[in-house]
Amino acid sequence: MYTVPKLKSYTATALDKASDSLLAALEKESSAVRNEEDWKAFRDRWMARKNGVLTQINDLWLKQAPKDAKRDVGQRVNQLKATVTATVEKPRSGAVATAKRAGDSVTARASVAAPSLDSLDITLPGIRRPLGAEHPVIKTAHEIVSVFRNLGYSVQEGPVIETDYYNFEALNFPPNHPARDTQDTLFIARQESKPQRERLLLRTHTSPVQIRTMEKMKPPIRIVIPGKVHRNDPPDASHSPMFHQIEGLAVDTNITFCDLKGTLDHAMKELFGSSVKTSFRPSFFPFTEPSAEMLVSCFICGGSGKRGSEPCRPCKQTGWIEILGCGMVDPNVYGFVGYDPKKVSGFAFGMGADRIAILKYGVDDIQLFFNGDVRFLEQFG
Ligand code: PHE
Repeated sequence: MYTVPKLKSYTATALDKASDSLLAALEKESSAVRNEEDWKAFRDRWMARKNGVLTQINDLWLKQAPKDAKRDVGQRVNQLKATVTATVEKPRSGAVATAKRAGDSVTARASVAAPSLDSLDITLPGIRRPLGAEHPVIKTAHEIVSVFRNLGYSVQEGPVIETDYYNFEALNFPPNHPARDTQDTLFIARQESKPQRERLLLRTHTSPVQIRTMEKMKPPIRIVIPGKVHRNDPPDASHSPMFHQIEGLAVDTNITFCDLKGTLDHAMKELFGSSVKTSFRPSFFPFTEPSAEMLVSCFICGGSGKRGSEPCRPCKQTGWIEILGCGMVDPNVYGFVGYDPKKVSGFAFGMGADRIAILKYGVDDIQLFFNGDVRFLEQFG
């Protein structure tokens, strides 16, 4: 096998001779390459940084050359380097070419860029990686949260698996009180040995996070609480055993029902457009007193109850859409968290993010949000 000789003479003839035998060896070894393995060995033998032939001619020929021959030897060595590199990297048929295209080394990768364009069809489409998108319910929840963040509210979260105490008792649903029937849920099995207040269940609303927050913070409080909740509801077009709520809580001194109305009216105008109106009608929740349901004028029919000659379905022809539950925090609730109801007051509200997304996007079946059909979800990308 060819070895790089030391040069005894640096005349043009001697250099020619040395170059010729190197090139002859290169040609011979190159034509013996049959497969990927051969090619790698060939590449390393000639181009390895440590002791490849190119390194050797640099060390043995150029570095050893007397001063007056350096220029000539330098040019020749550069020439040889170019020839060796081109030979090693020239496109090869079959296995070798494939191996090189796989780009397993820097030199092999360079060879992909180097070959003439007839081996590389740059008109072929590239590989597209589809970008994910926010789920419509999450997107809606983010929008709602940001409306309140702009008002100075901060975000709190809490556990989806909750105790009876936080989900019901501290929210003024006493044990066995019929108000609990309105929020039947999925209970974690084998909790019977625990006292009732410690038993675990899937939270039915985000309201327990009101309690958790008031336990750890003093007024003034202004928070929004987005999250997943569960109810024992069989799935249909408008119900799902799992859905999403956004809760709000403001507690301070001298907070009144007017603050509640003003805040929510502003939020609805931000969400649905400045022309929507709001309306409040009495309701009941154990943890607010007084309690109300808030309606917004139907932003689909503009409040007329009709779409052309057709009845408007989303508002059931009433011109109003029920959007959330709210009220002034019940003094009993302050008792559970150690606040003085004579000193502080506040309001709370809770809305379904899924329901609002349904209205916003004109979706007619809540199940579409959770079936995971990409053809549906893609439309929100
Ligand atoms: N938690 C109530 C529900 O899920 C909604 C609500 C929240 C009502 C806050 C009043 C105040 O039905």
